[in-house]
Amino acid sequence: MDLVFDVLIVGTGLAGIYSALNLDKNLKVLLITKTKVNECNSNLAQGGISVARDSDDIEIFIKDTLNAGKDENNLIALRILANESSFNINKLVEFGIEFDKNEKGFEYTIEGAHSVNRIIHCKDSTGKEVINALYKEIKKRKNITIFEDTQLIDLITDNNICYGGAVLKNGTAYNIFSKVTILATGGIGGLFKSSTNYRSITGDGIAIALKNNVKIKDLGYIQIHPTSLYENKLRGRRMLISEAVRGEGGKLLNLKGERFVDELSARDVVTKAIVNEQFETKSAYVYLDVSFKSNEYIKNRFPAIFKECLKIGINITEKPIPVTPAQHYLMGGIEVDVYSRTSMTNLFACGEVSCTGVHGRNRLASNSLLEALVFSKRAADLINNDIENIELKKFYKQNSIKSLTAIEKLNKRIILDSLKSVREDFVNELVEC
Ligand code: SIN
Repeated sequence: MDLVFDVLIVGTGLAGIYSALNLDKNLKVLLITKTKVNECNSNLAQGGISVARDSDDIEIFIKDTLNAGKDENNLIALRILANESSFNINKLVEFGIEFDKNEKGFEYTIEGAHSVNRIIHCKDSTGKEVINALYKEIKKRKNITIFEDTQLIDLITDNNICYGGAVLKNGTAYNIFSKVTILATGGIGGLFKSSTNYRSITGDGIAIALKNNVKIKDLGYIQIHPTSLYENKLRGRRMLISEAVRGEGGKLLNLKGERFVDELSARDVVTKAIVNEQFETKSAYVYLDVSFKSNEYIKNRFPAIFKECLKIGINITEKPIPVTPAQHYLMGGIEVDVYSRTSMTNLFACGEVSCTGVHGRNRLASNSLLEALVFSKRAADLINNDIENIELKKFYKQNSIKSLTAIEKLNKRIILDSLKSVREDFVNELVEC
């Protein structure tokens, strides 16, 4: 079956829905997700969103991001990220998102490797609040259609030009022809045995890009979050214990109750210190303690973490939380320019699936949602300008794949093979294909 849209967006996390909302209302837009709309990592983001607080903070924000990223960041993209941060945060406020405030305005918090408090948040459920508010807006837009349970099988391409995607929706194959296609499929956490990501986030966009010879960059730049909840029996993903807990004073302790690292160092530094500590004490976890704060403060500032830990018998107002590092984020991905254009004409990539280069080798905390906002907005603006000049063509590509399991298996194999070739040290952490 054939369907025709102006823009096809694959993925319903922040990058996907924010680009949809920034496209002209007269464009016919289709958003697809292989699961359900809210099964995206943006929804799980707890800590918050970084923003340059004022013009004086721009250079400091850039310096902090460069320090965390080991100076491997793309400076042009990073400057754009910092300069356009407050514009996009104001847009979120216009969409009705109520970030926590105090008498002076936003209640900024701090996380590892930031030199000032510049992270805005909605308690410890920032991603969920942002996604919910934007969905309300999406539902009002008559030009935007959403297909859930719809898997991208392959891109429809000819001569390095993208004309949409072949998809499978509830067992039926469709050709979605579009002038522009945006991949916003997220990272690769589902390929790791231990990750804070949804299990369904398995790098599909990157696998499909690899299959179509679209340029990929820094696939080996994988971030391990220092603090996920340690549970003896892993239930799917590991629950994140936000870096904001350390930002608000939480202390990392070894089994003897001693501190062993500056909790606000960059993520790679804290992760390394925890891994060493676990190795030396032959323990599968260390502790993150916030119990010295008042009950009222903890329940008000970290209500979701409090509730989730309580479900497994840990009252964080009384006890330290057992934590262990887990895969969290991919800094690399589909190589894009500062308008999110990939190496294939009319194919864009936004959010974690893309590699703008802003993060360098190691992402500064709370820069991921900001990157999704800034660069999906830039993609949408460019598409709004150029789409009139793009010709819609129908090409048919033979696809033998007819089942969801077969697509997932193929995608997983493509990306696992690439990953193994760049990160031999992670091979034992990867799932079997
Ligand atoms: C966190 O709250 O620690 C995660 C936010 C992020 O990955 O930047």
